[in-house]
Parts: sequence; C-alpha cells; structure tokens
Amino acid sequence: MAIQVYVLFLIKWGVQMKAIVYTSNTGYTKKYAEILSAKIGIPAYDSKVANQSIAKNDEVIYMGWLKASTVVGFEKAQKEYTVKAVCAVGMGNPNDKSESTITDRHHIKDVKVFYLQGGFDISKLHGFDKFLMKIFPKILKASAAKKDSKSDEYIEIMESIKSIKNGADFVSEANLVPVVSWLEK
Ligand SMILES: Cc1cc2nc3c(=O)[nH]c(=O)nc-3n(C[C@H](O)[C@H](O)[C@H](O)COP(=O)(O)O)c2cc1C
Repeated sequence: MAIQVYVLFLIKWGVQMKAIVYTSNTGYTKKYAEILSAKIGIPAYDSKVANQSIAKNDEVIYMGWLKASTVVGFEKAQKEYTVKAVCAVGMGNPNDKSESTITDRHHIKDVKVFYLQGGFDISKLHGFDKFLMKIFPKILKASAAKKDSKSDEYIEIMESIKSIKNGADFVSEANLVPVVSWLEK
C-alpha cells in the first residue's frame, strides 16, 4: 500500500515538479526541505549545488530563509529554474499577512507563496548577522514600548525577543500540511 501511494506521488508530481531547491543559513530551511522531500518523494538540493542535478528551467519548489523580509536566493532561483512555489522560512509567528508581505516584497505574480516558521540559534550565526541579532532585542524592545501591551503586534515582538534570546525550533511536519495540500490539487 505504502509503495502504491509513493508511486502515485511520483506519477503525479515527479513528472512535473523536479525538485525542491533550498537555501539555508542555520539549518531550519534545510530541515523543512528534507521533511517535504521525504513526504512527497521529490529530491531536495542545496541551491549551491542544485544545478549539478537539475536542468535550467526545470519546475521546482523553492525554500529560502527570510532575511529582513526577503527570501534569500529566491530571485536567483527564478532566473535558473521555473519556480512554481516558494516557501519562506522565518522566525516570526505566522499571521494573516505573512504570505502577502512576501508576495509584495518580491512582486510575485504567478508563484504560490507559503510562510513557514523556522527557528533561531544565535550560536550558528557569524559576522555582521550575529552582531545584528545580538543588538536586535534592544531595538525590538524599544519598538514594543510604543505599542499597546495587549495588542497582537506587542505579543509578536515579545515572542521574537524570546526566540532570539533563548533560541527556538518550530520546524514540524504539520507546518507543511498547506504545502502538501497545494501540491495535491
Ligand atoms: C540577519 C537576520 C535577519 C532576519 N530577518 C528575519 C525577518 O525579516 N523575518 C523573520 O521572520 N525572520 C528573520 N530572521 C530569522 C531567520 O529567518 C530564521 O532564523 C530562519 O529560521 C533561518 O533559517 P535557516 O536556519 O534555514 O537559515 C532573520 C535572521 C537573521 C540572522
């Protein structure tokens, strides 16, 4: 039964969707790519080496980490492959604007957009990014001070501060359900 389902998956998507291509800085996007790959039976490749395995213009799902609201590597991936869906992986809580923010930022028209909550681990950062994230809680705290302490925005900021200070890992197979459902359609 399991094999039949797997074969059906391959017939359904393997022909069109060639691969998952991902860019990950500290490992959370890579984890999502590997979980999705195992779930749908399509290989996942790091964007640095993906062109060794897939051809230009092949149809792919792109997964990239969020840096200052930008999906790292997405625009380069669009030049190399036919990106059918993009999954942005950030540390913020998903909300009703997560996906539209990414759509606007990248002027996306006909690519399906998903937002996935990744995680945060300062020990895996280096250089300027590490410096920035060390001072970022102070900047966030100052902006939270101007908000109503019962507002969603305030709560979101405080959660981000907590994740930056203590580290967090929100990666789960359950978060990929909307992506898998979209692929099934
Ligand atoms: C310099 C920097 C900027 C970031 N900007 C954002 C952001 O704008 N929005 C967000 O949700 N997460 C942001 N993050 C958090 C990362 O997107 C998050 O940790 C993600 O899970 C990293 O994925 P990776 O492990 O695959 O690199 C930022 C992290 C760094 C280091």
